[in-house]
Amino acid sequence: MGLHQSDALDVERIREEFPILDREVGDGQPLVYLDNGATTQKPDRVIDAIADYYRTYNANVHRGIHQLSQEASIAYEEAHDAVAEFVGADGREEIVFTKNTTEAENLVAYAWGLNELGPGDEVVLTEMEHHASLVTWQQIGEKTGADVKFIPVTDDGRLDMDAAAELVTDDTEMLSVVHVSNTLGTVNPAADLVDLAHDHGAYAFLDGAQAVPTRPVDVNDLGADFYAFSGHKMAGPTGIGVLYGKQELLEEMEPYLYGGDMIRKVTFEETTWNDLPWKFEAGTPNIAQAVGLAEAIEYLEELGMESVQRHEERLAEYALDRMAEFDDIEIYGPTEPTDRGGLVAFNLDGVHAHDLASIMNDHGVAIRAGDHCTQPLHDKLGVAASARASFYVYNTTDEIDALLEAVDDARQLFA
Ligand code: ALA
Repeated sequence: MGLHQSDALDVERIREEFPILDREVGDGQPLVYLDNGATTQKPDRVIDAIADYYRTYNANVHRGIHQLSQEASIAYEEAHDAVAEFVGADGREEIVFTKNTTEAENLVAYAWGLNELGPGDEVVLTEMEHHASLVTWQQIGEKTGADVKFIPVTDDGRLDMDAAAELVTDDTEMLSVVHVSNTLGTVNPAADLVDLAHDHGAYAFLDGAQAVPTRPVDVNDLGADFYAFSGHKMAGPTGIGVLYGKQELLEEMEPYLYGGDMIRKVTFEETTWNDLPWKFEAGTPNIAQAVGLAEAIEYLEELGMESVQRHEERLAEYALDRMAEFDDIEIYGPTEPTDRGGLVAFNLDGVHAHDLASIMNDHGVAIRAGDHCTQPLHDKLGVAASARASFYVYNTTDEIDALLEAVDDARQLFA
């Protein structure tokens, strides 16, 4: 049992662990940080773990026999083990560190897609994909001649699973789906989608950028062939992301980046590759960030991911209920809290999302406004932009009230 582990998160205590939450913005407004879908804040212990690495054992990994290099290498390798355990992978061989989720998507698209896809092949995505997946597979489709198709989103913000069953065929080679939508908040039926892909001999890639930080995820239970997420959205540092891949697939795939550390033997004529996962981690990696991510994982494990999920759901339910009191607020995505992540995208009638975010900022409330890297989905919703509040372990219902007060201010100003 961890320090915090219990049914409900001790939010007051958690808030004390995040130093940035003490600061004021604007004219001395307390910071209300509701932009966690973009990036979360970091607790002292993550900041300290990174500083401790630089202060006491900073060295390059896998390159020196001196003590500091050995200490750094062990910490870096053990960070892979911590991630593997956190998401239920079989071992560090299945955990490749990247810069972020986007780079993990590109790694598979280039290392697997470019080599394996051709005319007549299909890649199936969904209309709620983040640009990280959508743009990447669109480009690989253009380069290889493979068709890229999209599972439609229904009016209530869910995937049309009947259409999915039609769209995924024996020509489908890859089904790439966002696990939790960063715009609609929808929690997609990931295991069913993975099964659908496998029934047709296709691989399944899940974009877990909004899922791993907010709920328990077990890649083996889901059956995914590939699964990606980012450290900075889960109380860890920027600059580190994760690609999980089934070991046999990663063994078969060619490297994506070439250089130091990813090789075993180099001659002027040819090169052989290092073991997994180093085969995919060319050059000096993000060592400090790996150390920080491992600390963030330990922190989240102490909180308990079931508790984190319940907290997110409770805040989403509260926000949805409060927003439903107003006819001039349009909410995107499922309006019932079931199968919904801890974020709410919305628009206020007659007020551009950017103006709304600016008024929120005057109240000290930080939200994201724009297309949230899902332009085609916004086209389908018939809006250019939306405002999005996204929650994390330190957020409270009082902060959602502060958001609604700022919305009211915008209503008065633009009336
Ligand atoms: N993908 C991140 C978001 O949804 C940046 O805000």
